[in-house]
Amino acid sequence: MSDPERLVKSRQRVADHGEVFTPRWLVDDMLDLVKAETERIDSRFLEPACGSGNFLVPILERKLAAVEAKYGRSDFERRHYALFGLMCVYGIELLADNAAECRENLAGTFARYLDVSAVDVWSKAAAGVLAANIVQGDALAMTDASGEPITFPEWGYLGKGKYQRRDFHFENLTQRASVQGTLFDAFEEHEIFTPVRSYPVMSVAEIAGGAA
Ligand SMILES: C[S@@+](CC[C@H](N)C(=O)[O-])C[C@H]1O[C@@H](n2cnc3c(N)ncnc32)[C@H](O)[C@@H]1O
Repeated sequence: MSDPERLVKSRQRVADHGEVFTPRWLVDDMLDLVKAETERIDSRFLEPACGSGNFLVPILERKLAAVEAKYGRSDFERRHYALFGLMCVYGIELLADNAAECRENLAGTFARYLDVSAVDVWSKAAAGVLAANIVQGDALAMTDASGEPITFPEWGYLGKGKYQRRDFHFENLTQRASVQGTLFDAFEEHEIFTPVRSYPVMSVAEIAGGAA
């Protein structure tokens, strides 16, 4: 949301959608409960009712602080790992305006860190990532705004400026946790969960150009 202290947009929206935003101090306290995970660049966070990103933005900020600490001396690594940090942040939001604000807020945080404008290739790549990672949809029905099953990309950074992407149904991803500790543990993950789409290895320019 544009004003981080504005915790309610309207009484109607609270009644219709339970839309009350979490204040920053509470978000920080909650994230501190999983501090080590929030400070890992490659830990994946999904907020299934993400609003305008009151949790996701601070998570990204923590990841970017970790990028700076680890890769701050190399501009190449710093930029690529910053994009990878963004790739590990996911959200679902029912309302279109909130979903758009969430993407904007994450994109702004990323662009300020890299000190790039909105037309820079890095901002365009971030926009491509956010278009896939922040879904307007219903987290309970697991469907997007068109009624189709929600899919999320699983991004990987391969090094040397190359990324991989495989898309999975959200429903499959939620089942991964339930398999852990069962007989299915004996199977390789790819034997149970197959991606709905796999992409060729991509550069930042390719992600920015819409290859993703
Ligand atoms: C209590 S607010 C929390 C927003 C944000 N997580 C925060 O803490 O600031 C709940 C949000 O979930 C959204 N929402 C309600 N039902 C939803 C559903 N079934 N799937 C996804 N989002 C939903 C609302 O539009 C609202 O933005």
